[in-house]
Amino acid sequence: MKIVVIQGPNLNMLGVREQNIYGPMKLEQIHAQMKEVASQNGVEIEFFQSNLEGELVDKIQECYGDAQGIIINAAAYTHTSIAIRDALAAVNLPAIEVHISNINRREEFRKENMIAPVCTSSVVGFGPFGYHLAMMGMLQIMNEIQAAQEAQTVQQQA
Ligand code: DQA
Repeated sequence: MKIVVIQGPNLNMLGVREQNIYGPMKLEQIHAQMKEVASQNGVEIEFFQSNLEGELVDKIQECYGDAQGIIINAAAYTHTSIAIRDALAAVNLPAIEVHISNINRREEFRKENMIAPVCTSSVVGFGPFGYHLAMMGMLQIMNEIQAAQEAQTVQQQA
């Protein structure tokens, strides 16, 4: 089982940018924690960050046939990108979107969300801990997929 974590624009600036909103933790630290949880659970994990919309679309497309789940913080593109939404819909993988801040309690334009309707679930407003919650959710989904596959194999053998 493989999970791909996709990070959008300016998330490479975590730990520097608007610490009052996003906190002091760096992206590398968040990823190190997620990697730890993945290895404890025997799951492969890959990380990708880009400031470019097209690169994010390419990465989502690459997940097709390669990964079983996506954790994505599309950052500002969440509010604007039909292309990222369409890519998520196209690959049709379990996807959990994360927002460090509570986008529903901020500026009006952040309430517009192109991504949420094509995601399995959203985690917002927990700070960097939201990535850990998303990992827990995704591991649960992976377990359910695996259990369903095993049940199917048993049924085919009967
Ligand atoms: C964000 C929220 C977005 O509105 C913003 O543009 C970001 C980060 C978050 O994680 O809280 O860059 O996705």
